[in-house]
Amino acid sequence: MGPLSAPFCTLHITWKELVLTASLLIFWNPPNAAQVTIEAQPMKVSEGKDVLLLVHNLPQNLTGNIWYKGQITDLHHYIKSYVIDSETIIFGPAYSGRETVYSNASLLIQNVTQKDTGSYTIQIIKRGDGTEGVTGHYTLYLETPKPSISSSNLNPREAEETVILSCDPDTQNVSYRWWIKGQSLPINRPWQLSENNRILTLYGVTKDIAGPYECEMKNPVSASRSDPVTLNLIYGPHVPSILSSSPYYRSGENLYLYCFADSNPPAEYSWTINGKFLQSGQELSIHQITTKHGGIYGCSARNSVTGLESSTDKTIKVSASFGRGHLSWH
Ligand SMILES: *[C@@H]1O[C@H](CO)[C@@H](O)[C@H](O)[C@H]1NC(C)=O
Ligand SMILES: *[C@@H]1O[C@H](CO)[C@@H](O)[C@H](O)[C@H]1NC(C)=O
Ligand SMILES: *[C@@H]1O[C@H](CO)[C@@H](O)[C@H](O)[C@H]1NC(C)=O
Ligand SMILES: *[C@@H]1O[C@H](CO)[C@@H](O)[C@H](O)[C@H]1NC(C)=O
Repeated sequence: MGPLSAPFCTLHITWKELVLTASLLIFWNPPNAAQVTIEAQPMKVSEGKDVLLLVHNLPQNLTGNIWYKGQITDLHHYIKSYVIDSETIIFGPAYSGRETVYSNASLLIQNVTQKDTGSYTIQIIKRGDGTEGVTGHYTLYLETPKPSISSSNLNPREAEETVILSCDPDTQNVSYRWWIKGQSLPINRPWQLSENNRILTLYGVTKDIAGPYECEMKNPVSASRSDPVTLNLIYGPHVPSILSSSPYYRSGENLYLYCFADSNPPAEYSWTINGKFLQSGQELSIHQITTKHGGIYGCSARNSVTGLESSTDKTIKVSASFGRGHLSWH
C-alpha cells in the first residue's frame, strides 16, 4: 500500500456524511447550481513557484469541498478534499504531494510544474443529504519563458539551402508566432510552418528574408518574445565594378583603381592587365604611369565559400603628358 492509497481507504469511514462513493461522484449534477469563481494568486506564475487558487462566492453552511484535476469529477482525478466538521483532509490519486487545501476551500499548489497546468474543478458540498453543491472551474497556465530561436543552419547559401528555425522550448498549451523584420511572415514565400507554428522551414533564403527573425510564445496569461536572429547568408560574388580615381590619365600621373563585388563572406580580388596576372588585392595603384600602362584592366572576385568567381574589365588609355588623355568606360 502506497502513501496515497492508505488515506484513500479511510474515505468512506471518515466522511460518512458526504457518502462519497464513486456513484455519487458520477451522478452528482446539481440543477441550477451557482458557479463559484476562482482566482489565481499571483495571476502569473512561473515554473517552480507557488500558486494559490482562491475560491470566491463560497455558499454558506458547507460540509466540505473536493478538488479535482481536470474538468471531470471522478475518483481518478480527485486531488484532495476537506471535511469542515471533522477538519479532516482526504487525499486522492491526483494528489502530487504539493497541494494544500484550506477550510475556505482555497488550494495552494507549491513548486508548480508544466504537469500542473490545465483544468481544475472544485465541488463544494452543502449541508444536507450530500447531493447538493456547487462547482467551480479554473484553468491554470504558467507564465511563458523567454523563447529562443535555433537554426539548423546559421550560414545558408543564398536560395540554395533549406533552413529550419525552431522556437524553443517546446511547451504545451502555448501558441507560437513568428516575425521577420518586425512584420508578420510574408505570404507567397517558400516557407512552411509546423502544425503548432513552432517550426518554420524556409526553402531557400534570399537577402530580403535573411532576417531578423523573432518568435513569440503566448498563452492566455502571458506572452514573451525571443531575441532577434539574422541568418548569415552566404552569396556572391556578384559582377564586380571597377572604380577609378579619375576618368582621364596622362603619363606621369598615378593610376588608382578599386574593385568591388557584393559577396558574403567578402570576395578575394585579383587584377590582370591584358589577360596577364598583375597582383591580388582590392586596390590597384601604379605611380607615374606611362603610355605603356594603357590596356585592359581586369578585376576578378572570388568567394572562397561558394567557390564562385566573377570578373569584369575596364580599358585604360594613357595619353602622353603634352597631349590630352581620357579614360573610356566600357
Ligand atoms: C483562504 O485561506 C488562505 C490560507 O489561509 C488565505 O491565503 C486566503 O486569503 C483565504 N481567503 C480566500 C478568499 O480564499
Ligand atoms: C521543485 O521541484 C523540482 C523538480 O521536481 C525539485 O527539484 C525542487 O527541489 C523543488 N523545489 C522545492 C522548493 O520544493
Ligand atoms: C494542454 O495540452 C494538452 C495536450 O495537448 C491537452 O490535453 C490539454 O487539454 C491542454 N490544456 C489546456 C488548458 O488547454
Ligand atoms: C445549515 O444546515 C443545517 C442542516 O441542513 C440546517 O439545519 C441549518 O438551518 C442550516 N443553516 C443555515 C444558516 O442555512
